[in-house]
Amino acid sequence: TGQDDLLPLSHSRTLRKTNLVRVALPLQVQEYLEPFHLSVEKLREVSARLRKDLVRGLGKHSHHKAPVKMLPTFVRATPDGTEKGDFLALDLGGTNFRVLHVRVVEEEQKVLKMDSQICAIPKEMMLGPGVQLFDHIAACLNDFLVSQNLKGQTLPLGFTFSFPCEQKEIDKSILIRWTKGFNCSGVEGEDVVKLLKEAIHRRGDYDIGSVAMVNDTVGTMMSCGYRDQSCEIGMIIGTGTNACYMEEIKNVRRVEGEDGRMCINTEWGGFGDDGCLKDIRTEFDVVVDETSINPGIHNFEKMISGMYLGEIVRLLLVRLTENKLLFEGRTSEALLTPDAFETKFMSEIEERDGGLENTQNILTELGLKWDSVDSRIVRLVCNAVSSRSARLCGAALATLANRIRVNRRLDHLKTTVGVDGTVYKKHPNFSEELRATVRLLAPDCDITFLVSEDGSGKGAAMVTAVAQRLAHQTRLLEESDGEVDDEEEED
Ligand code: BGC
Repeated sequence: TGQDDLLPLSHSRTLRKTNLVRVALPLQVQEYLEPFHLSVEKLREVSARLRKDLVRGLGKHSHHKAPVKMLPTFVRATPDGTEKGDFLALDLGGTNFRVLHVRVVEEEQKVLKMDSQICAIPKEMMLGPGVQLFDHIAACLNDFLVSQNLKGQTLPLGFTFSFPCEQKEIDKSILIRWTKGFNCSGVEGEDVVKLLKEAIHRRGDYDIGSVAMVNDTVGTMMSCGYRDQSCEIGMIIGTGTNACYMEEIKNVRRVEGEDGRMCINTEWGGFGDDGCLKDIRTEFDVVVDETSINPGIHNFEKMISGMYLGEIVRLLLVRLTENKLLFEGRTSEALLTPDAFETKFMSEIEERDGGLENTQNILTELGLKWDSVDSRIVRLVCNAVSSRSARLCGAALATLANRIRVNRRLDHLKTTVGVDGTVYKKHPNFSEELRATVRLLAPDCDITFLVSEDGSGKGAAMVTAVAQRLAHQTRLLEESDGEVDDEEEED
């Protein structure tokens, strides 16, 4: 059937069997794929390096030089089920920009997405002036409010902005740097909430209520937290990759306070930006980085996420073709075009049933002349790249789970991870391989994975709702404090 030539590279026995019996993979092809196969020992090392980097990022003095930023989010609580209200949500940072109207209903403990609208962001705008981007966002929001008949109301707004931001408060968020495909001028170093409000005021025809800034990982954790209160990690493996988790406040040295927890946006995409992953980066990773719009930034992300995986595969295929190990040495214009090999092809190619046929169709689409050995090699190339991505993510997730367990002095931790992102959701064996790695590297953690339902939309509403609930509680506390004082005096 040709199915078991697609077992993970990590199963070296299978690989050998695959090579000898099924594909007779040329030694030179194996040599190119070998660096993508990370041993369990290597993954353990990677996990230990990340463990150190988490501490560096949290430290008051080490933070500014730390590649893993460990950003405080000012989210101190997960939902408790009493949140309610109507919210607007904006979602910028994945493949699309979206505007949503979300209702949170207390009685039914439910988050209802009322409506949403997608607005395209043209590529030039992703690289143009920031003012233009925010004017576009304000215009999309206006169109949405008009279409929903909401224009007279001033609703609170959750803004899922999926880039590294130094958050000063829940509604003050300074962009540290753009990542993924964005690079608008005049936004880095600025408060994104201010830029949004200025754009709305420039129009002058509507207003918004209080704003809560949310990273997509946090939205994902919060939207799952509503269903499962032990959800204390949020993870994204989509266009980019990142995770957040609940950390003890006393360990967050840059934030005042000793008691309780705060959600930390790790920005693990930046892991390796100080060169600490040099030993596992391949020549293909180096090219992907150097030809990207932000060289030197987000090394870990560039080995893992959807924006880059397809390109790594393409570069490998080009090299194998140049060395006459594929397609009898004949490339095609498409194969030589950057980003022409899309990450979604990998999911289709690696599909268990029908993957081989999909491979052949894709290769034909790309203008390549293939034979059956070629198509099997291409599947193995895709598998090597996606498998490495899943295992690296698994190693990083294991680091977070182990940290939570040690923080709480537990022998055994049971926790839930909210996950989102096309790579995780669409790829046929990604999640399985990720889980297997976590089990190996965090054997004392029992992790449930919950795929988030629209964390960026509903989760943003959730964060805004929790922020409002806490603000409300603070006010109540202050008031009742006064009353207690009065009573004590009377006594
Ligand atoms: C960003 C993160 C985001 C992740 C997933 C990364 O490039 O820096 O803030 O969470 O992508 O969208």
